[in-house]
Amino acid sequence: MRAPHSPPGDPVVGNAIRFARAPLEYLDAIGDAYADGIVHLSGAIGPGIYVVLDPTLVHRVLVDDHARYRKPQFRPELVDPLVGEGLLTSEGDHWKRQRTTLQPAFFTSRLREFGDTIVDFTLATTEEWSDGDVFDAYRELGVLTVRIISRLLLGVDLSRADAAAVGEAMIDVGEGLAVSPGGVIRPPWLQTPPPREYRQAIRELEDVTARVMAMHEPGGDDVLSLLQRARSREPDAFPEDELRDQVMTMLLAGHETTALTLTYALSLLSRDPTARAALHDEVDAVVDGAPAWTDLAALDYTERVIHETLRVLPPVWAMFRQPLADARLGDYRIPAGAPLMLPQWTIHRSPRHWPSPLEFDPDRWLETRPAEVPAYFPFGAGPRACIGRQLAIVESKLVLATIAAEWDPRVENEKLPRRAGITMQPSGPVPAVVRRR
Ligand code: HEM
Repeated sequence: MRAPHSPPGDPVVGNAIRFARAPLEYLDAIGDAYADGIVHLSGAIGPGIYVVLDPTLVHRVLVDDHARYRKPQFRPELVDPLVGEGLLTSEGDHWKRQRTTLQPAFFTSRLREFGDTIVDFTLATTEEWSDGDVFDAYRELGVLTVRIISRLLLGVDLSRADAAAVGEAMIDVGEGLAVSPGGVIRPPWLQTPPPREYRQAIRELEDVTARVMAMHEPGGDDVLSLLQRARSREPDAFPEDELRDQVMTMLLAGHETTALTLTYALSLLSRDPTARAALHDEVDAVVDGAPAWTDLAALDYTERVIHETLRVLPPVWAMFRQPLADARLGDYRIPAGAPLMLPQWTIHRSPRHWPSPLEFDPDRWLETRPAEVPAYFPFGAGPRACIGRQLAIVESKLVLATIAAEWDPRVENEKLPRRAGITMQPSGPVPAVVRRR
């Protein structure tokens, strides 16, 4: 058994402050210095955090030994009022019951019906554009993906204003949950009340959630209908509050990551005329007017653009687990309860696993199936892998192809400023100019 690598830290606070000041840059530095194995970052108090840099050990935690780990409860004072006991945060049998109940909402047979809705909502967005308009890509795509997810998973048509309120609230929530020096040095037992903007964002989200539940018509195979049916069979197993938690979970988990994928794809394409031309060539050859479900299989390059975006700029930059008892992970001993970080950001961008890792090259996926690459896990892995991953790929392909058939949006920022919260969000506007092709 080996002790994890321990980078030199500062007195008292160890590595905590350096990490919290610029988490992604700090991860780059330890990725370069240690490349493999497990790195222990010490904190002011407590067990610190163990960063797993070896993809086979990530796989061990998420897949082979998943029953020995749980998701840690980070900042419950902020997360509980947001998504409560929804599918993202629940544990054990409670989680299993939820996952089995909700799975039919994501069946491929249902996805097939989603194609037209995704394209129609995208066209409703692009019809508002004029040549030369400048918009904030992250906000615009956020409104679009909220409207798509509410229709597909919750069975309601949200107004643009409500969709925009969800997107704005998510930006404030992201700010509240961002890794910060203050958050890291605060001992876990000292819970400070959520800041005012955060509480306001939750109120906005609760208002929209209440409207979704009031508008919803039962009887379909959407998430709310499935939960209502399960509740009528087993009221104790599916309490009333949980409906609200699941609506919040779907609205947030279901829209933001896809909006980020599309924003980052547009940003990466803006700096790569060759990739842009290849995308346009494919869309022109495959799509007649607007894409259809039957075009999906032929939108091969478009799919490679999405996978490559998820590799270079993964919207979920890291996942977290903790062992239920003292654990052995490879050659390393991890104490019970110690937080483990499984960073997509570092492993997706490591020269140990990828040639020219920082280069955006959709064609690296020509001969490679994403599911077969251990160093690639944008949707997690194992039983708790993303329930929406197929939907996210279908949605991202159709939105990107619908836009590219007629428009050539260019993101202006050379380098997007980013913030590491639960997801990796732009920390400022992402201005994009739209040009008609
Ligand atoms: C490109 C888009 C997306 C990315 C990168 C993404 C990423 C992830 C990741 C990494 C996890 C695992 C977290 C962990 O194990 O700690 C996850 C879980 C989850 N995702 Fe996604 N996701 C995306 C789209 C979606 C969509 C469209 C939905 C639709 C509702 C969704 C809903 C969820 C839910 C509910 C979970 C928790 C599943 C469980 O624990 O059983 N995600 N996602």
